[in-house]
Amino acid sequence: MDSKLFVTSSTFVLLISFATVTGDYVRPPPRKTLRFPWNPKPSSHPQQVHISLAGDKHMRVSWITEDKSAPSIVDYGTSPGKYSATSLGESTSYNYLLYSSGKIHHTVIGPLKPDTVYFYQCGGQGPEFQLKTPPAHLPITFAVAGDLGQTGWTESTLNHIDKCKYDVHLLPGDLSYADYIQHRWDTFGNLVQPLASARPWMVTEGNHEKESIPLFKHGFESYNSRWKMPFEESGSNSNLYYSFEVAGAHIIVLGSYTDYDESSNQYNWLKANLAEVDRKKTPWLIVLFHVPWYNSNEAHKCEGDGMMAAMEPLLYAASADILLAGHVHAYERTLRVNNGRSDPCGAVHITIGDGGNREGLARKYKEPQPEWSAFREASFGHGELKIVNSTHAYWSWHRNDDDEPVRSDETWITSLISSGCIADRRDERRKILLGH
Ligand SMILES: [Fe+2]
Repeated sequence: MDSKLFVTSSTFVLLISFATVTGDYVRPPPRKTLRFPWNPKPSSHPQQVHISLAGDKHMRVSWITEDKSAPSIVDYGTSPGKYSATSLGESTSYNYLLYSSGKIHHTVIGPLKPDTVYFYQCGGQGPEFQLKTPPAHLPITFAVAGDLGQTGWTESTLNHIDKCKYDVHLLPGDLSYADYIQHRWDTFGNLVQPLASARPWMVTEGNHEKESIPLFKHGFESYNSRWKMPFEESGSNSNLYYSFEVAGAHIIVLGSYTDYDESSNQYNWLKANLAEVDRKKTPWLIVLFHVPWYNSNEAHKCEGDGMMAAMEPLLYAASADILLAGHVHAYERTLRVNNGRSDPCGAVHITIGDGGNREGLARKYKEPQPEWSAFREASFGHGELKIVNSTHAYWSWHRNDDDEPVRSDETWITSLISSGCIADRRDERRKILLGH
């Protein structure tokens, strides 16, 4: 049954789905992990190229070479083959048991013009890539898919995302499903390169990124080395949580697998970050993390409760609009919710851990469907979030329907800044975020 839209005359919560529904489409089984034929390249050839936002008007280009002496330079410009600027970056590498990574390059380029196509080459050789910078102002479109892995369904999801016109990809955790087998990070990097070299991919860590070996390896070494995010640019001391601003959105990316209690660095960084958000400049406040807080699937039930207990009051005080999570291999969208029940000043929570990994779908749901759950369905797919202006955003979820993207859930979301919630709760915000 499709969700039904309704419009109220109130300026509070508009165009949120009225009926709570459960999709009745059941997917076929998971697909096998893709086979990647051996395709040797010169050792200095750039591989696994991906880009990410790196502070105002800047982009980080990341790639890997087998050659440890390859330079970390990026040549770039707005005409193909004509590079008007060069940036020199940094590099790292790591060892994991018998595996030695290639040289992992991270080079920040810019200042870049908004909404502009740039052509670039990594390390002075290899193919030319092109990227498009996000717009400076709304509208902006985000593609969203978590728990990707590298199966036949992943390929299907990536093909669908490639067809949509989007500016930035948001990935709420569980990227490669390498699970300690390091060469899977390399095959994943090459699998996503066509998309991730063209639009910024902003990611957070999931449990499948945690590859700790007691007394020997801490978690996230591979993830942190390969997928450097703008944590330094956003005043964080960890690659596991950071924030960025793009067009009219302030986006906070949190870590479900690092400390989040009230004495933790992450908690205090989040509190300070939220206190500085300027809703006139960025009317939309969006948060991304891995383990969902509002999940009516039987899979991973209550796993997010500890983080929610610590951080939901902060996000509620700050009037966060939309929270995106993964982890559960299914799709679910809530009404605006806070403290376990619908609340017109709470956030819309979207669980979208359905990118296509090898573990398959989480089909079993709690019954009855909670009143805050607006739509839920165990299928692979991806989401698109188009923020149209300071008051309205259009969300759609596209199921991989036998390899065709089918729009199966959609809703308009009205920003809290246009609702009166922010003005009404100014004192509470000051007390919780600023302590006075
Ligand atoms: Fe997960």
